[in-house]
Amino acid sequence: MSTHFYNMGTKLLVDTVSKMNENLTSLVLAASVFTLTVGYVSKRLLQQSADKDAKYPPFIPSSIPFLGHAIAFGKSPIEFLENAYEKYGPVFSFTMVGKTFTYLLGSEAATLMFNSKNEDLNAEDVYSKLTTPVFGKGVAYDVPNPIFLEQKKMLKTGLNIARFKEHVRLIESETIEYFKRWGDSGERNLFEALSELIILTASSCLHGKEIRSMLNERVAQLYADLDGGFSHAAWLLPTWVPLPSFRKRDKAHREIKNIFFKVIEKRRRSGETPDDILQTLIDATYKDGRSLTDDEIAGMLIGLLLAGQHTSSTTSAWMGFFLARDKALQDRCYAEQKAVCGEGLPPLDFDQLKDLNLLERCLKETLRLRPPIMTMMRMARTPQTAAGYTIPVGHQVCVSPTVNHRLQDAWVGRMEFNPERYLNDNPAAGEKFAYIPFGAGRHRCIGENFAYVQIKTIWSTMLRMYEFDLVDGYFPTINYTTMIHTPHNPVIRYKRRKQ
Ligand code: HEM
Repeated sequence: MSTHFYNMGTKLLVDTVSKMNENLTSLVLAASVFTLTVGYVSKRLLQQSADKDAKYPPFIPSSIPFLGHAIAFGKSPIEFLENAYEKYGPVFSFTMVGKTFTYLLGSEAATLMFNSKNEDLNAEDVYSKLTTPVFGKGVAYDVPNPIFLEQKKMLKTGLNIARFKEHVRLIESETIEYFKRWGDSGERNLFEALSELIILTASSCLHGKEIRSMLNERVAQLYADLDGGFSHAAWLLPTWVPLPSFRKRDKAHREIKNIFFKVIEKRRRSGETPDDILQTLIDATYKDGRSLTDDEIAGMLIGLLLAGQHTSSTTSAWMGFFLARDKALQDRCYAEQKAVCGEGLPPLDFDQLKDLNLLERCLKETLRLRPPIMTMMRMARTPQTAAGYTIPVGHQVCVSPTVNHRLQDAWVGRMEFNPERYLNDNPAAGEKFAYIPFGAGRHRCIGENFAYVQIKTIWSTMLRMYEFDLVDGYFPTINYTTMIHTPHNPVIRYKRRKQ
């Protein structure tokens, strides 16, 4: 779940270097960068002298020590990877900020990551530094993977169809309430609005009504501070560095946990057992019979909320711009609402939501062209073989959904937004891992069904209320400076529909 927050780019370096002159932290930063550089140089020297017979993946040379390709990659990661694919083939390595990355591009090469054991290609080694300060100890990447798999199973039990039926109702009413502030027409920042709405709907559905009722501006700020922990600085620097953003993150973590502890305690004392995810976690046990501690439950609730926050809000915003760009498609989606739900557009229900097939295909196609997670990452703990190359221990092994989703050989009209391609049973020429917005294998997303329910309900409600247009034909460019690739200047024009 942490790659949701992890896609590292050059901004890391640009940020770090530009901060060097600023304040006391610069000393610590300089020391860290120096130490990393020395470590990096010795590592590469050691690697070179390692196994002389092994055939390593083609290495993209760089004349910039330590930084390596960070600047080119940060400016335009997908272009960088596609160019490298063309020149070097599906498996290649390069360095950025003292780390060596080996990409496995295309469906066949990606198989290595998705079929591997966690002991060989390890997720904790790359994600834990970011996630543990945010979610807390004892959950996700802070525990051995078999324990995390048990926790994922508990969460999945909580994300079931009976709950989704209730979620549709909750999300629809949150959406109607939220958009009252938009009035009849105007131009607004769609991404900002959807980010706010998604935190409200996710809190209603995933945390329950006690926690949702506490979600005021102060708590929203705590989430924002906590979320600020998913930064390039957190990825590069040790956690003890006294950065203001780290302090805010840690304070927010403590305060949010305290809120959750009180709710959990109240629930336990009340003897009530409402049918919600909090109760599922309170009742859950590990295979050895142990119950979750309150600290684990609180950590899992934080994880649930943040795992879906940027992923779903970015996806929903991009979908809005694709629909605004193609008015005929938008009209068809509106007509589908009436055809499936009835001319009078009664409140949505889960069974009808499932039958909104065109809307679903639009979401699927949005996730193809704008998958929020552009790279999944693992640390090679043992030497790995892909495409006849040996990937040495210590490489960060990566698969990019974005690149796989637009492979020349797999996708017809690869850059076109064409939801109808999914009417064909085999839209990606039979390539198993050509479509992986939710990952695959042991680390696969557990939030896919919830994300579909959430985004389809929000967009059904929005399409019933408004017609959307691009502002003066502007379709947002991709903002690569954020960890998840958000739309740049995401302002949309809207006008209330005449029923
Ligand atoms: C559009 C929405 C979403 C997208 C595109 C998405 C994408 C992904 C991807 C690509 C992974 C695999 C990461 C990896 O292999 O390194 C993942 C894992 C995960 N996601 Fe999501 N996700 C979304 C929403 C959610 C939501 C709403 C939740 C929770 C309710 C969630 C919870 C998780 C969890 C628990 C994992 C497992 C991580 C692991 O086992 O290492 N995701 N997601």
